Amino acid sequence: MTNTDNINTNRKVLLAPSLLAADNLNLEGSINSLGNNYDWLHLDIMDGHFVRNLSFSPDTARALRKRYPDAFIDVHLMIDRLEVLLPMFIETRPSLITIHAECEGHLLHASLSEIKKAGIKTGISLCPPTPVRNIESVLELADLVLIMSVTPGFGGQKLIPSSFDKVRELVSLREAYKYNYLIEIDGGINENNIISAAKAGCDVIVAGSAVFNNNNPCEWLAKFKEALNNLDIYGI
Ligand code: DX5
Ligand code: ZN
Repeated sequence: MTNTDNINTNRKVLLAPSLLAADNLNLEGSINSLGNNYDWLHLDIMDGHFVRNLSFSPDTARALRKRYPDAFIDVHLMIDRLEVLLPMFIETRPSLITIHAECEGHLLHASLSEIKKAGIKTGISLCPPTPVRNIESVLELADLVLIMSVTPGFGGQKLIPSSFDKVRELVSLREAYKYNYLIEIDGGINENNIISAAKAGCDVIVAGSAVFNNNNPCEWLAKFKEALNNLDIYGI
């Protein structure tokens, strides 16, 4: 399992393929096609209300944990009604659960604390129009901040370039206040912008269609893993 501890110190960039773009009739086959070249498995949960789409259920999260006991399972909740649904996802024992700042904002502290108390890493996500300042008061509770670089709901969209400014802002805040969160980016990542994402300061990069629509997902991941790890990020 790849833990989030000590990742900031060596600035190793992690790759998290998004199962939203995997083969729905053969998720296991899709995961096997990644070989050993993925770091985290990103699982998007959509409720048809917070976003205009539906995706996986707690049963999928539970089956994933059962089949891959050592995998770092990165659950991204794009849902309302956290008070009902969050306990159901906690119970499936993922490695990390990300909730959205825009969803029932008054519950943010309580929900992050609930995740933490269960021994699961915490993530907080921002949709493209939401500024970083909206989550300043909860940053100390976050193991990860996820910047959505497309409107959440669907894979295969075009990355919104201003997302990188938010990543840079989070890097500065982390430095200024000695926070420990990782910065993750999600949406529209492809071979043309993945290096820029790392240079902006992302620690974890989610990619769905770029990975699974490729003829050889394993090779795609290997290629960019090497490129990212050889990047002189501080030299830019
Ligand atoms: C979108 C999801 C993403 C999605 C990314 O709401 O959160 O994780 O799978 O897909 P791509 O990489 O195709 O933009
Ligand atoms: Zn996602």
